[in-house]
Amino acid sequence: MVPPLIERFRPQLPVSAETPVVTLGEGSTPLLRAPRLSERYGRELWLKWEGGNPTGSYKDRGMTVAVSKAVEEGAQAVICASTGNTAASAAAYAARAGIPALVLVPVGAVSGAKVAQTRMLGATVLEVRGDFDEALSAALELARRGTHVLVNSLNPYRREGQKTAVYEIVEELGSAPDTFVIPYGGGGNTSAYAQGIRELGLGAGIVSAEASDRRHTLASAIRIGEPVHASAVREAGAHVVAVSDDAIVDAWRELGALEGVFCEPSSAAGLAAVAAGSVPGERVVLTLTGHGLKDVATAERLAPPPVQCDASPDAIAEAAG
Ligand code: F0G
Repeated sequence: MVPPLIERFRPQLPVSAETPVVTLGEGSTPLLRAPRLSERYGRELWLKWEGGNPTGSYKDRGMTVAVSKAVEEGAQAVICASTGNTAASAAAYAARAGIPALVLVPVGAVSGAKVAQTRMLGATVLEVRGDFDEALSAALELARRGTHVLVNSLNPYRREGQKTAVYEIVEELGSAPDTFVIPYGGGGNTSAYAQGIRELGLGAGIVSAEASDRRHTLASAIRIGEPVHASAVREAGAHVVAVSDDAIVDAWRELGALEGVFCEPSSAAGLAAVAAGSVPGERVVLTLTGHGLKDVATAERLAPPPVQCDASPDAIAEAAG
């Protein structure tokens, strides 16, 4: 069995022998070569497949640390605002720790599959009449009142856990890539990657790919009007690239059909930046942040529709072309 993230990276994390390790077996995700995409875009592309985490997104890296520390510090409950993935991850790790999770999602703006996942994991889900930014302000205020510990990426332990993706990538490649490419929603992950790069003393750059229409993008995980970590993203020296929904969908399909990796639309923003010619470097790692099953509805809407035919071999052979 792969070690829990906290055990694998114990010396690099703010944990002690007293910290209870709340784990679901996160981290140690696949780093995949992308031969066909490398060929298409004329450089060495790698995919860090974070959909392989227990709840299907990279959030689990940070959540194992945030919830373990919250329990160590005596938390009675956790709270977050979310576009869906933080919600599911917080719910899972809170259940694992035996404490309640309160999750705020902007009503009508989050993938139904993510809300269902979060409900099944026993969290209290409130659909807030407002956008993500308003839900986050409310969560912050409730955390300030002391009833709940905030497990959004403003919680510094989240960043500590998420930086470990950089450690894994560098360990597996044997050296740093020229560029790390990640989607940019609130910017917490960009600041986590920057921390990992800093701690390891690497010269690698970061490209953070955001939706050009932040408030309305179909990539609902990164549908965030006001990135709360914008100044950290600037200080990190990340190169911010805006990509259209059409470019995201094209990249999303390419990842599936050319490399066999079904991620969620937001995760494809990085490849869209590569396709736009906005990513420097010869060796490039694209982090695919979440699993495609997280947003089945969008796949059902945009994937090539199935063709119906009779159950006879001739009819099937003809329909298959
Ligand atoms: N990719 C996925 C799949 C995400 O769920 C998110 C953020 C991001 C990328 C962007 O990362 O915010 O650190 O820049 N999801 C948050 C959530 C907002 O609530 O699940 P970021």
